[in-house]
Amino acid sequence: MLLHVLGTAAGGGVPQWNCACPGCSGARAHPHWRRRHASLAVQASEDRWYLVNATPDIGDQIENCRALHPGSGSGSGCGPESGPDSGSGSRRTPIAGLILTDAELDHTLGIARLREAGADGLELLATGPVREALRTGLRLEAVLGPYTPLTWRELSQERPVSLTEESTVTISAIPVSGKRPRYAVELPVPDGGSWVVALLLTNHTTGATAVYAPALAVWPDALQAVVEQADCVIVDGTFWDDEEPRRTGISTRTATGMGHLPIDGPGGTAERLAPLRARSLYTHLNNTNPLVDPSAPQHKRLADQGIEVAGDGMVIQL
Ligand code: MLT
Ligand code: MN
Ligand code: ZN
Repeated sequence: MLLHVLGTAAGGGVPQWNCACPGCSGARAHPHWRRRHASLAVQASEDRWYLVNATPDIGDQIENCRALHPGSGSGSGCGPESGPDSGSGSRRTPIAGLILTDAELDHTLGIARLREAGADGLELLATGPVREALRTGLRLEAVLGPYTPLTWRELSQERPVSLTEESTVTISAIPVSGKRPRYAVELPVPDGGSWVVALLLTNHTTGATAVYAPALAVWPDALQAVVEQADCVIVDGTFWDDEEPRRTGISTRTATGMGHLPIDGPGGTAERLAPLRARSLYTHLNNTNPLVDPSAPQHKRLADQGIEVAGDGMVIQL
């Protein structure tokens, strides 16, 4: 199972278009600080890939990953060079569909960007509440219908789904929280823990598992159970500490109040990750997070606990 990290930033990316905070200014001055919105490509079979979340950066994220280029054949590299065009007709793609962890704008706006799928349609794997939010809140199906049909597959905890018929990778969804996107707060969608899920990816050839959880308002027992068994865990690193959103003036709420457990401090996620045998990485960094600066001392604090910060373009094989 091959995972390509397509982006590692929270909403706005790094830099964010209207922000001059130290992280965003630093990223303008030093391009290697830049991070696109958090997303992952998962290889389902030789030349079939699923994207986890569809961000506002999806077009650039596809172009920056050679394996996602149309006509890339079995290429698995994530670089700017395109492989030879091997099929017939010019409209084709190794991207088989999209998997959604939630219905947040940062994770769904890119769906409309793929309207050129045309008659081929787009396959979306999502929980019931996420599907309903996109249908009734964003009116995505009605708006995209004249361009490309959407087909849905239900993500659940009980019934892992095979990505494609020939794929040995299955995916299931661990309910994390009932945190609704702001645009969906008043929607008549039944509540449940499955507004936000963690994904459990299993490679049945090797038995390896990975957990991807870019939004963690809480750390449920079911999540703890899967991360204890996992080989790789990639989780919400939006904020370094609970006070960061207030200190930096981006919100009147704490990190936890905004639906993101902080990394550091009591109840933070670092103390959950440090004891795991899994390779553990943070993603979904907000531009206020000191980790945006590659020379920040917080990187060593994490490294001392055996925890990594994911970077755009990282490739993980399991
Ligand atoms: C999140 O990641 O929690 C959302 O982007 C927050 C929001 O914009 O409402
Ligand atoms: Mn977000
Ligand atoms: Zn900023």
